[in-house]
Amino acid sequence: MKTPVRVAITGGAGQISYSLIFRIAAGDMLGPDQPVILQLLEIPPAMDALKGVVMEINDCAFPLVQDIVATDDPDVAFAKADVALLVGARPRGKGMERADLLQANAEIFSVQGKALNDHASRDVKVLVVGNPANTNALIASANAPDLDPGQFTAMTRLDHNRALTQLAQKTGKHVTDIEGMIIWGNHSATQYPDIAHCKIDGKAAADLVDQNWYRSDFIPTVQKRGAAIIEARGASSAASAASAAIDHIHDWVLGSDGIVSMAIPSDGSYGIEPGVIYSYPVVCQNGGYEIVQGLDVDDFSREKMTATETELREERAAVENLL
Ligand code: NAD
Ligand code: LMR
Repeated sequence: MKTPVRVAITGGAGQISYSLIFRIAAGDMLGPDQPVILQLLEIPPAMDALKGVVMEINDCAFPLVQDIVATDDPDVAFAKADVALLVGARPRGKGMERADLLQANAEIFSVQGKALNDHASRDVKVLVVGNPANTNALIASANAPDLDPGQFTAMTRLDHNRALTQLAQKTGKHVTDIEGMIIWGNHSATQYPDIAHCKIDGKAAADLVDQNWYRSDFIPTVQKRGAAIIEARGASSAASAASAAIDHIHDWVLGSDGIVSMAIPSDGSYGIEPGVIYSYPVVCQNGGYEIVQGLDVDDFSREKMTATETELREERAAVENLL
């Protein structure tokens, strides 16, 4: 039997985790022959609810689950963690400004960054889902000086998957016929879903759709999909967010089938200055990821890529005290 992989999940009693944990336990993230130890973190008021989640995991009798840890102590939750999914975050409350939300979450992610630094596996792969995900990942990384910043990523795979389906539906194709989708920048309404390098069944996607649809319909639909889900469901996306988190870690660990989008520390590629966690086109293999280089960037794309970079720099400035 393979050595179990320790998977830490924060916000274990929340709605995303209610999908995420059960799919990880079933082998969807790390493979059907990979045992896991689930290390679930919550805040004290949610520990009873977390107890209920643990009861349900036990009631599934998953063959791959070797152990379950449920705790309100980040040091315990991240102990020897190989994968850390930072899902738990403070939601935006009444009258709360974006800066207040940034600050409240910044405190959570600085504590968790320190705990990862001190207790996680030296090779831990971290995915931040909790919003504002890119900047939360930056804070966690800044508080984990003994870990490589490249180990800290944020989730734009949900945006990537949303974009794939929008394009597939428009062109009457299947998502598996599309390659080269890219989400640039922040997981927010400034993100830039870019089809300039997309091929559908080998043909340039940009030649298959009307530019007006692309600019006035596709881009805003993907950018605002999170808000549309909240409007329709009365709650933010959960099962689709969990599915995207599984895709992100699955590909990082086991390799991607072509280009995927991951928010990672900018390294100067495509003119995005270092210092923010920016979504790039990457290819994953052998447990790592690499930015796809050499793609042409036209004026339209450059403007969009800069707008989302500017927002990330503003978010960074709002939490500078915690970096
Ligand atoms: P939720 O409110 O249902 O669950 C969040 C859980 O986190 C709660 O149970 C809460 O008690 C817990 N929590 C809060 N602070 C914590 C802390 N310091 N340590 C551990 N746990 C803590 O929310 P949800 O619907 O599961 O969403 C979680 C986050 O994911 C939100 O910030 C949401 O905006 C974000 N999100 C991101 C994406 C993305 O694509 N990146 C998509 C959907 C949702
Ligand atoms: C999403 O994209 O569904 C989430 O980030 C929720 C939100 O606030 O948009």
